[in-house]
Amino acid sequence: MNKFTPAKPAGARGVDEITGSRRLRRMRKADWSRRLVQENRLTVDDLIWPIFVVEGKGIREPIAAMPGVFRLSIDLAVKEAERAAKLGIPALATFPNVDISLRDQTGSHILDPDNVINRATRAIKDAVPQIGIITDAALDPFTSHGHDGILRDGIIVNDETVEQVTAAAVIQAAAGADIIAPSDMMDGRIGAIRDALDANGFQDVAIMSYATKFASAFYGPYREAVGTAGLLKGDKKTYYIDHANSDEAVREAEQDIAEGADMLMVKPGLPYLDIIRRLKDEFQMPTFAYQVSGEYSMIKAAGANGWIDGEKAMLESLLAFKRAGCDGILTYFAPEVAEMLKG
Ligand code: PBG
Repeated sequence: MNKFTPAKPAGARGVDEITGSRRLRRMRKADWSRRLVQENRLTVDDLIWPIFVVEGKGIREPIAAMPGVFRLSIDLAVKEAERAAKLGIPALATFPNVDISLRDQTGSHILDPDNVINRATRAIKDAVPQIGIITDAALDPFTSHGHDGILRDGIIVNDETVEQVTAAAVIQAAAGADIIAPSDMMDGRIGAIRDALDANGFQDVAIMSYATKFASAFYGPYREAVGTAGLLKGDKKTYYIDHANSDEAVREAEQDIAEGADMLMVKPGLPYLDIIRRLKDEFQMPTFAYQVSGEYSMIKAAGANGWIDGEKAMLESLLAFKRAGCDGILTYFAPEVAEMLKG
């Protein structure tokens, strides 16, 4: 065996000489000092809880790809809204799974004032007026092809979709939605929705733009949840942003702000922290991330297998959004993390 003893460089410097006596570990030495210098914190006020609603009564249907997440009938959604309000969660975002017989080429059921989303909004607002309701004005849960827009001759037609989404937004506002969050990425939707809300007396209803929504593989479990997985033909690359692009995301956000967006969202979340930071630095808008279904499921699955500490990974991922510049996060972890923060 060769023995090798490294020689110290001649006149070797001590660590204090190397660092100029700057030792960053000083402030990390104890829990109290780490707490004292902690730059970002996660609180319950940062959380928006996305929930799935279905027709029926007493229904709490598990979603296989999202352990711990359920499709809820309106009566149970109201119960969960009460729980969320007690925990201090500021807002819910609702998504429907409607019967296949109600889905068509243009997603026309989104315009039914009594569809499950609008009835859920009314029921929750009735029972829990202090919680904010955010509705998605996208067509995908209502179309027979699972796309967010109207499909004609193989093309998602922009302007006709904007008309449909705009009408849906007004109906959702009339049902009591506080924030309209259009996730379809059609050009001109934010301005059209703002004009229509104002014309109908909903000046106080805000718009959270899914400003930078990327074509992503991380939406898989959501598509099981809303029942679009088996329907979707092709992909969404003609309307969602190419996940290779960052300047384009800034232009999207800039456009949506000019059209009247009150809040911006980046989606998915964790793989796009660079986009969040760019948008916050550039625009200083209320900025949110959607920690999407695939991100949730990855943490849950690895945690369930004992490959990572699921709770710590959850908290770390959520704090990372704050560090990147987020004002809040849409996350399926919302009730779990709210319970934890309380305890
Ligand atoms: C579509 C929509 C998507 C999500 C919410 N609304 C993406 C999609 O199916 O393409 C994803 C949410 C998630 O993955 O948690 N308008």
